[in-house]
Amino acid sequence: MDRRLEEIDPLEERYRGATPKEDEDRTVEEALLAHLDPLIEQHLITEVLRPIKTGKEAVVYCCAAHPTLERELVAAKVYRPFETRSFKRDAVYQQGRERGSRPDARVLKALGKKTRRGRLHKFSAWIAHEERTLRILHDVGADVPEPIERVGPVVLMEYLGDAEDPAPMLTNVVLEEDEAGQLYDQVLRNVDLFLKHHRVHADLSAFNLLYWNGRAVVIDFPQAVDPRYNDDAFDLLIRDLRNLNGFFEEHGVDGVDPIEHSLAIWREHVDPLR
Ligand SMILES: Nc1ncnc2c1ncn2[C@@H]1O[C@H](COP(=O)(O)OP(=O)(O)O)[C@@H](O)[C@H]1O
Ligand SMILES: [Mg+2]
Repeated sequence: MDRRLEEIDPLEERYRGATPKEDEDRTVEEALLAHLDPLIEQHLITEVLRPIKTGKEAVVYCCAAHPTLERELVAAKVYRPFETRSFKRDAVYQQGRERGSRPDARVLKALGKKTRRGRLHKFSAWIAHEERTLRILHDVGADVPEPIERVGPVVLMEYLGDAEDPAPMLTNVVLEEDEAGQLYDQVLRNVDLFLKHHRVHADLSAFNLLYWNGRAVVIDFPQAVDPRYNDDAFDLLIRDLRNLNGFFEEHGVDGVDPIEHSLAIWREHVDPLR
């Protein structure tokens, strides 16, 4: 694999196990919560019930859905302000992205600049990309949360879980070998479907799989890349499969060969001559 990619840990590594310092301020929490006010004004949610998980990149809240949404609960993923993040390591994921989305010349110019506006554009493009990817993949029947709306730095989506508890990450589930095998096959079918619809997740691991109603649901897509435009997509696909295998093989599953499998599905969906 490309050395550069090996040097970049999967994104999840950046904040796995990170516990927000208690004093990592009420003010930060309040600022994030303030981003949910417009959703109340727009009749998308009626109340913020509780945070589900606090991460370095985003905080996900469980909210009461407005009756018009015809569901009880929704998940609101609120991205932390762009000032606090570095886009340096994101370059791999962003490369080629503008070609996939075709923004206008003004936006392209701003994206290229290291100004505040340029970074702000990148930040909103990153979030919009998650919502768009969820939309594309949900529409073709992939096991991803249904996106509902994006409002500023918030992606509102289907909530996985019940009134008491959110769905656990797969890493926190006790799995029998049989079930692990079924879930692995299910996730592989999703990886195939993603590729067919021009996406490589690029941060796939058991930390980004929720376990709900006996099935795996794939979450967390802002870094997803388009194999038609991103030169690293093939290596990222191999890395995704390696990460998946790492978890599932510990549960007795006989994993596919990441390179062979990547080649096979790449030839089918992206480039028969690879
Ligand atoms: N739709 C959802 N329903 C329930 N819980 C969710 C949902 N989306 C995310 N979560 C919870 O929030 C955590 C963080 O979400 P994720 O999209 O992985 O963001 P990040 O890892 O960038 O902080 C997940 O591990 C999961 O526990
Ligand atoms: Mg995640």
